[in-house]
Amino acid sequence: MKLWGGRFETGPSAVFEQFSGSLHFDKKLIDADVAGSQAFARALARAKILTNGEATQLVEAFAAIRQAAVDPKYFEGADDEDVHTFVIRMLKEHVGPVADKIHTGRSRNEQVSLDIRLWLRASTLTLLEQVLDLLRELLALGRRHPNAVIPGYTHLRRAQAVLWPHYLLAYFEMFARDFERLEQTKSRIDVLPLGSGALAGSGFPFDRDAIRSDLGFAGISRNSMDVSADRDFALDFLYSSSMVMLHLSRLAEDWILYSSEEFGWLSLGDGVTSGSSLMPQKKNPDSLELIRGKSGRVFGDLTSLFVTMKGLPTTYNRDMQEDKEPLFDAFHQTSGSLAMAKVVAESVVLNPAVPAAAAEESWVIATDLAEELARRGVPFHTAHQLVGKLVLESVKQGKAPGQWTADELAAFAPEFSGDMVRLLQPLEGMKTRQVPGGTAPETVARALLDAENRLSVMAGHLN
Ligand code: ARG
Repeated sequence: MKLWGGRFETGPSAVFEQFSGSLHFDKKLIDADVAGSQAFARALARAKILTNGEATQLVEAFAAIRQAAVDPKYFEGADDEDVHTFVIRMLKEHVGPVADKIHTGRSRNEQVSLDIRLWLRASTLTLLEQVLDLLRELLALGRRHPNAVIPGYTHLRRAQAVLWPHYLLAYFEMFARDFERLEQTKSRIDVLPLGSGALAGSGFPFDRDAIRSDLGFAGISRNSMDVSADRDFALDFLYSSSMVMLHLSRLAEDWILYSSEEFGWLSLGDGVTSGSSLMPQKKNPDSLELIRGKSGRVFGDLTSLFVTMKGLPTTYNRDMQEDKEPLFDAFHQTSGSLAMAKVVAESVVLNPAVPAAAAEESWVIATDLAEELARRGVPFHTAHQLVGKLVLESVKQGKAPGQWTADELAAFAPEFSGDMVRLLQPLEGMKTRQVPGGTAPETVARALLDAENRLSVMAGHLN
């Protein structure tokens, strides 16, 4: 079926029909399309275009359509242009000619915006809940080893010692920002476009605020041309999803490394790893590799819609139909990756002795020592130079920090004193990092509590 045709002498070519049809993917929007159309039928009744009886008849028929569409077979053989056309054809089959008034003063341009907004609103809520679940899991993982010491890296070289929960709290911050971003995205999605018509505003006196309240939107759009042209809210969703994936991908990369034989700090559960068809000993971190891999795909979804929208003349252009598959894909991959990451995090077992030994045998305490000299009045550049010499000497002798005695240290240079040996233990230097945001044990303990409180506030936003 077509929702147009009067001004054409022949129908569309088979190739064009096949090329332009979107039902095979936009059928995913059928629940949204039905909900929007039910609200629109009620709006038509309020505007006296339908009688109350007719509106009720349509609303019920729409409900039956939504019910029938649960079965994928419902769409078999349908050659309608898109989901909106399909739903109207089904409506006609259910109720006959009374269906002919449903599109009064409505355009598919606003209808598609409405449907995507309804679908994205629900999808964003799902992502928000999943980000919260992951945040909870990260805190639980931190709490399992609150005092474990690990080397922190820059350039993937051991840099300074930090507490294991301090490391995890860094990811807490990233995902907490993602939560905020998704909330902002949701508020930009949460705007009713209906009433905009094709581009110029509807010619019928709809009570837009009543439709808004019927569909539970926070506000109504302010400009009909903007509605018809706008996919900013879809791009916001893709960007927010991309940021989630970026953070998941970096976490995945960390854990792929940390669970390798070379690092050996943590093990991943059997349930999230796979074996090799050839090498019997292998236990591969495929779940994390797939998260890392899928991130590229979601960035592609964002890029794809950016490029589609760039340079489109105001307002609607059919190019915009290409928005849906990237949106569906981004949601599917991001939601799947969040679920996967949560299960991986649950399965992680840290072997704290290994990272602690890595911290002790390397020179992650060098900065602590230099800063102690500076606290005692040695200019920092001199202190840096002196500790650098100590490291060089140790590397030459194959000596770990802990092998220096108080006397040897004091004898190395007049600026050093014997009591500084305590700083050769990573935990001692960490205690000096008490600034807010630092890795001192009490600071981290407070940060963990603070994170728990922030989590409850975030959870409260979803209720
Ligand atoms: N299926 C189209 C889309 O997804 C909506 C239909 C609007 N079509 C049109 N020719 N104005 O963007």
